[in-house]
Amino acid sequence: MSGDPSVKVIVLDKGKELYKIVSLYVESEFETNVLHYESPNSIDDSENIDLKEALFVCDYTFILNFQSDFKSLGAKGYNRSFIILEDSLLFGDEEKREIETLLKEFKHSFCHRDLIKNQFVEMIEGMCGDAIPKVDLKYSKMSMDYFFKSKHALVDTYIKIGAEKFIKIVNRGDDVPEEVLEHITKKGVRFFYVKKVDFKECYRSIVDSLSERSSTKKGVEGSLTEQFTSIENVHTALKSLGVSEEVLEIADETVEIAKKTIQEQANLPAFLKEFLKNENYISELSTLTSYLAISCLSELPWGNPKNFTKFALASIIQDVALNDEELAKICHLDSEEFKNLNEADKTKVVEHPSKAVEILDHLEGMDQDIKDIVMQHHERPHGKGFPWGLKDNEINPLSNLYIICHEYAHRIITGGLNLANMKKIDQDFREMFSSGNYAKPYKAFLEVFRSKR
Ligand SMILES: [Fe+2]
Repeated sequence: MSGDPSVKVIVLDKGKELYKIVSLYVESEFETNVLHYESPNSIDDSENIDLKEALFVCDYTFILNFQSDFKSLGAKGYNRSFIILEDSLLFGDEEKREIETLLKEFKHSFCHRDLIKNQFVEMIEGMCGDAIPKVDLKYSKMSMDYFFKSKHALVDTYIKIGAEKFIKIVNRGDDVPEEVLEHITKKGVRFFYVKKVDFKECYRSIVDSLSERSSTKKGVEGSLTEQFTSIENVHTALKSLGVSEEVLEIADETVEIAKKTIQEQANLPAFLKEFLKNENYISELSTLTSYLAISCLSELPWGNPKNFTKFALASIIQDVALNDEELAKICHLDSEEFKNLNEADKTKVVEHPSKAVEILDHLEGMDQDIKDIVMQHHERPHGKGFPWGLKDNEINPLSNLYIICHEYAHRIITGGLNLANMKKIDQDFREMFSSGNYAKPYKAFLEVFRSKR
């Protein structure tokens, strides 16, 4: 396997948030791994015996809080350089002088806390040069999970064994042999590689088979399964590859398929029934919400292609920050399910909309409407939702419609299509959504059910 990189990026921070965003950027651009330590003293040097250089990323407030630890850093046997994050509002000349005195022995640069990927990557290149090799331009990194799901290689698949050396482990179309899988997992390999030219094809093959199925009208079951897989893959890609044009392209194609599929389904109850045969709540919810929202939008004056795309993208991204389906299913903070969670899981639930928006902030082409919908997808009428408890008139009008569809999709997937559940939904929805800013979108929602009965 490839030797340890000579430069490691080490994030020093109390929490994990900065570490997550730095790894997203660094691991998609450079052949190195990112480590996280809560203080300069907790660094385990036995893990870094061959290390030539460490590039630390930390906030200026962190350095000021751990001043004495930073003073004694010079004794260790590898070079150190620093990217110090600052906030131009509070970070003045005095703070800068203080940091510069503390780090005078080390190479250091200042960077704004709102990490902008290109600037951050350029800064790392400028500080480390060739010592930190860029990800090979001919290959794209793929998360391990991608192929493990089907055990079937859509394209030629490689692992990296040296600075610029790749070995093919599976041919296009072959199954990944069990023993190969086991072997590379034991070696601690975290990524596969596929040729750049094959990367898009990988995703596209899933989406293409989906459009073939929907155009030949072989029923929706197959299409839905494929659609779920493609949403899972977009999530995997966003997390493991970071910002990537290909991911956005795939999201756009998913939108096209969603629109096409919904237009072709004349019978909504039969279509809904298919959702209950699948098992991944996050993907089912995403797909059903976007299908319903796009259908309802067609009944309203704002029904234009731009808004269709906004709904589909929001639905793909909404729960990207949650891996646990049980956490994703929680829609009310006063529910027993929520109250029984530990504090860490409670935070995950409450913060998942803002975490998803953070990812959106780093993608190009995401307008404020998409961010609003994602941020507000758990808000409910009369301020009963979360995270903010916003009232009807405090949210984006597109969110009003989206929320109705999100609540419906959630209730159908978790409660089933039985008469009792349908009656309860009908009754609750009339109470919740008949007035205020929800009234118009709710009318459109009812219209869709009338026309596609
Ligand atoms: Fe959610």
